[in-house]
Amino acid sequence: MQSFMVVSHLSKKYGEKVVLNNLNFNIREGEFLSVLGPSGCGKTTLLKLLIGIEQQTSGIIKLNGEDISKLDSSKRHMGIVFQNYALFPNMTVLQNVEYALKFNEQYKKDSRKIAQQVLEQVGLKEHSSKRVDQLSGGQQQRVAIARTLALKPKVILFDEPLSALDAANRLTMRKEIKRIQKQYNSTIIYITHDQEEAFTMSDRIMVMSEGHIEQIDTPINIYNHPQNEFVRDFVVEHLRTKLNDLENCMVNKNENKI
Ligand SMILES: Nc1ncnc2c1ncn2[C@@H]1O[C@H](COP(=O)(O)OP(=O)(O)O)[C@@H](O)[C@H]1O
Ligand SMILES: [Mg+2]
Repeated sequence: MQSFMVVSHLSKKYGEKVVLNNLNFNIREGEFLSVLGPSGCGKTTLLKLLIGIEQQTSGIIKLNGEDISKLDSSKRHMGIVFQNYALFPNMTVLQNVEYALKFNEQYKKDSRKIAQQVLEQVGLKEHSSKRVDQLSGGQQQRVAIARTLALKPKVILFDEPLSALDAANRLTMRKEIKRIQKQYNSTIIYITHDQEEAFTMSDRIMVMSEGHIEQIDTPINIYNHPQNEFVRDFVVEHLRTKLNDLENCMVNKNENKI
């Protein structure tokens, strides 16, 4: 399949500090790519460069063959979903989704209809007239996703969208995001520091540390063939430990019964 988004030699410095160092990767249309790395490795900075909230120090971002690296954020056809939802708490669900559409030349005429359609598709129709501060965290995050989807972005960027949720809601929302992705055939770049999240959701995972890419491959290839010590420790060992803990826990339970 042809590359949809191509990132070449992307670097970012803040003063003398190199935060991203020569990133090269591409994404296929409809692909779910996770960016997995510890806190402070440059994940959010990468999203900011991709969507154009921050300007890269050097490098090029192409979308569908077009160089978008100097375009204004509003012209890049990308949407972003944050951890903290960034919703208007005193507006209704419908008003929140309609808000961005009203400022869009292409969609403002049909803003109400589009907002209603998207809310129905993400299963929030019956909550349309509630204020967002009356909703649970998971529902609020779905409103944020609906608001992003309404503008039909070519690429959706997620910045640790589930980290504010409790464990049960996180699991539900993982499935929900995957379902929505399939429904819309969205191309997604999904940032997380959670190994399980990356492994359960992604077509490919880009493992990062300290501003550079350690490995980019399918979950199974990364698990079976970690390219270096960092990937082995941060990803593979972590997952193995979790699996071992689970097994021990089950064995203990069994023994206690007998
Ligand atoms: N505006 C800024 N000015 C200076 N340093 C920054 C700025 N934004 C981020 N950084 C630094 O860049 C590094 C990467 O940050 P960030 O992209 O937020 O990492 P992550 O999202 O992976 O936790 C951190 O060391 C952070 O302190
Ligand atoms: Mg971050």
